[in-house]
Amino acid sequence: MEMYERWIVLPGERFAQGAAHLLGQRLARRATEQGAVHVALSGGATPAPVYERLAGLELPWERIHVWFGDERRVPPDHADSNYRMVKETLLDRLPVEIEVHRLRGELEDGERAAAEYEAALPEVLDIALLGMGSDAHTASLFPGSPALREPARRVLAVAGPEGGHPRLTLTPPALRAARERIVLVAGDEKADMLREVFTTEPDPIRRPVQLALDGLWILDDAVAARLPGRS
Ligand code: 6PG
Repeated sequence: MEMYERWIVLPGERFAQGAAHLLGQRLARRATEQGAVHVALSGGATPAPVYERLAGLELPWERIHVWFGDERRVPPDHADSNYRMVKETLLDRLPVEIEVHRLRGELEDGERAAAEYEAALPEVLDIALLGMGSDAHTASLFPGSPALREPARRVLAVAGPEGGHPRLTLTPPALRAARERIVLVAGDEKADMLREVFTTEPDPIRRPVQLALDGLWILDDAVAARLPGRS
C-alpha cells in the first residue's frame, strides 16, 4: 500500500478488502467519537465488492446511518437502483437492521423526492463516499450540469447520462459540507482522466469529481498508473 499526500494505491486484488478496511476504520472512529456516523454511499460498480467486504467487518452498525449520494429515478427493486445494489451487497448481509435513508427514485415527481430528502438530510454528513466516472462525473453531477452551479439546494432532480435514467443527486453544497470526502476509483479505463483530475486547474464544472480533491482517494494500481511520479 502506498500513501501519498491524498491518495492510497492498492494492488487490484487487494482493492476491495483494503478499501473496506479503510472505510470501516473511519466509520468506526466517528461512530465511537460522535455516538453516530452519517455516511452517504456511492452507487455504481466499483463500490459493490467493497460493500460486500465491509459487511463482514465488526463495526458498531447500530450507530451507522446510511444515506445515498445519488440515485437513479427507478423503483428500489430495479436492476439499476443504487439502493438495490447497497441492499444486496451490504444491508442484507449485516447482523442488525440499520438506519437507511433511501432517495425515493420511484416517485413520479422528482422535485418532491429531492425536497423530502433534503428536509431529512443532516446539515453536515460525516462521510461522502464518492466514485468517479471516466468523464469525471461524481454522484450524479455530470460535466456541465446546471446542478454544478447550485448555490444552496443540497439535493436536486437532474438529467441522467445520455440515454440513461434521470437521477436524484447531492449537490456541491452538500458534498462540500461533509466532514470528509472519500473517493473510490479503480480500473485502467479511468487512468487518463484520473491523471487529468490531479494535474489540471480545479474546474468542477468540467470535472465534477474535483469537488473532492481535498478528500481521501482510494485507488487501485491500474487507475493510478499514470499519476505523477508513478508512470
Ligand atoms: C452512480 C454513481 C456514480 C458512480 C460513477 C462510477 O449512481 O452510478 O453514483 O457517480 O460512482 O458513475 O461508476 P462505476 O463505479 O460503475 O465506474
